[in-house]
Amino acid sequence: MRRIGILTISDRGSQGAYEDKSGPLAAEIVAERTGWAIERRDVIPDEFDVITQTLLHWCAAGLDLILTSGGTGFAPRDVTPEATRAVIERDAPGIAEALRAASLRVTQHAMLSRAVAGIRGQTLIVNLPGNPKAVGENLAVLLPILPHALDLLTGHPESGQEHRDV
Ligand code: MTE
Repeated sequence: MRRIGILTISDRGSQGAYEDKSGPLAAEIVAERTGWAIERRDVIPDEFDVITQTLLHWCAAGLDLILTSGGTGFAPRDVTPEATRAVIERDAPGIAEALRAASLRVTQHAMLSRAVAGIRGQTLIVNLPGNPKAVGENLAVLLPILPHALDLLTGHPESGQEHRDV
């Protein structure tokens, strides 16, 4: 069973001024589609140090996958990509490119996402936009490749079978 963390990054969400809908939605979609354990969930502000510390902590806890939501745009407080880049050891540009390309078919505003994806140790980190609708659209593209990605990353297939997902 893969172990997943879902991290919402939002100033207003962390202050309780705004109900976090993206985190619960991502958790629901991932749990339903994969059956994997949503082991950590949190809502934190758009603070570089808080984001990096949380990511480092969750990676050290041995999570297989961390999905972040929010803070990838152009607003001055949007620092999720920078914090993620500070934590990852290996870039996974294909994932970010594929998510942006698929999202561009939905909205031109996908160009405004600076989301990155990468690997620290045996943990894959993927930035998603903050909008719940965007979370659903991105997960539809991301989920099919995750079993094979995590098998490669951890060096052992979860199911004992090779995945041929496309
Ligand atoms: N991607 C998809 N699939 N659907 C969307 O609605 N919204 C975009 C973009 N990516 C969107 C999307 C918008 S409006 C922005 S500003 C950027 O993601 C960054 O969002 P964030 O700052 O909440 O991370």
